[in-house]
Amino acid sequence: MKTQVAIIGGGPSGLLLSQLLHTHGIDSIVLERKTKDYVLSRIRAGVLERGLVSLMKEAGVSERMDAEGYPHHGTMISYGDEMFRLEFSEHTGHAVMVYGQTEVTRDLYDAREKAGGKIEFNVEDVVICDAKSETPYITYTIDDEPRRIDCDFIAGCDGFHGVSRKTIPEDVRTEFEKVYPFGWLGILSETPPVNDELIYATSDRGFALCSMRNENLSRYYIQCDMSDSVDDWTDDAFWAELKRRIPADQAANLVTGPSIEKSIAPLRSFVCEPMQWGKLFLCGDAAHIVPPTGAKGLNTAASDVNYLFRALCDFYENGDSAGIEAYSEKALSRVWKAERFSWWFSSLMHRFPDQGGFEQKMQLAELAFLRSNKSAQQAMAENYVGLPY
Ligand code: FAD
Ligand code: DHB
Repeated sequence: MKTQVAIIGGGPSGLLLSQLLHTHGIDSIVLERKTKDYVLSRIRAGVLERGLVSLMKEAGVSERMDAEGYPHHGTMISYGDEMFRLEFSEHTGHAVMVYGQTEVTRDLYDAREKAGGKIEFNVEDVVICDAKSETPYITYTIDDEPRRIDCDFIAGCDGFHGVSRKTIPEDVRTEFEKVYPFGWLGILSETPPVNDELIYATSDRGFALCSMRNENLSRYYIQCDMSDSVDDWTDDAFWAELKRRIPADQAANLVTGPSIEKSIAPLRSFVCEPMQWGKLFLCGDAAHIVPPTGAKGLNTAASDVNYLFRALCDFYENGDSAGIEAYSEKALSRVWKAERFSWWFSSLMHRFPDQGGFEQKMQLAELAFLRSNKSAQQAMAENYVGLPY
């Protein structure tokens, strides 16, 4: 087979890139290791930055998001029983959209299918070949049958464990990593959200987050030990611990119920430089990971897609390869800012095992400063709604 852009990975990055390219008549093929149902069963991000909201519109897939998503103009931040609101719109002129990654991905699959887009599922043994040449290609198998795609460019959108990043030779690639000494235990429950905006909470017992998908679907997280497994946490134990970490008046209003999903995610900051090698371009989790505090994972993936999409349009429509050449530098400049924000917000809100009284006082002083200082609020709001592309 032959295409202009071969895309490895049918997660949000790969699908969004494919759909955006399609709106400019640029042909792509998406290769996905799993089935569509499997990809759609993963419960992940829930908050979309303004940039991703715009890209969904540009890609022609915003109808359901516009109808069913919830614009949020602020978020609550609590410490112990203290709580204050961080206003987004007043500080930045922008809001975020509460709309789950699962729904984003479903809308993109629907659009690709409607447009007759080519997506190969259950692919195995993907190998990227001749990425440094003018004639790159990909080999893979489906049901042990060998296949090959010849292309102009390869987009590595295959997540943290994919093959794309590892294709860049070790002597070319530098990886920066920080692993946090705790995880997030998350549950989804068919209960009304405790509050109409998210609550990022910190307490003597650690971090908690009250989020949502709709008026009868709530997503809650608590910081847990790295060694915990979901079997260690009954629903009752989860709810009891969540109540201890949010302000008492919120805990009193919390509606509990059976979990319909429960999972633990490790927390990591990770960046691979460069994000391109010859005709291979990394997008999203293939190149970088943020700890989830601040909801930057999916959104930073989308900003990579934005840069790569525009660079490819410039190449195909104007014969201009400047954007392609500058992709890694441009994407990384924004990636590092999202890394900084996620690291800062994670450091502010979690209980670290080696934390002493002094470090705890610093967190409390920083929260008190944020609560009272308009400039600090503005800086946080600008980062939360998303820095400009
Ligand atoms: P992915 O979503 O990982 O998609 C990559 C795709 O490539 C997958 O479908 C995979 O099956 C496929 N693939 C992998 N290897 C190959 C291969 N060799 N060949 C073909 N296909 C391949 N972000 C937030 O903002 N908030 C959250 O609450 C949040 N929670 C998360 C929870 C978990 C458990 C994880 C792992 C991530 C979470 N994230 C969260 C991050 C966010 O979900 C990711 O940043 C986002 O999914 C990145 O999208 P992506 O398309 O780049 O990668
Ligand atoms: C969600 C996850 C996050 O990491 C976050 O910062 C906000 C919301 C969520 O899953 O709803």
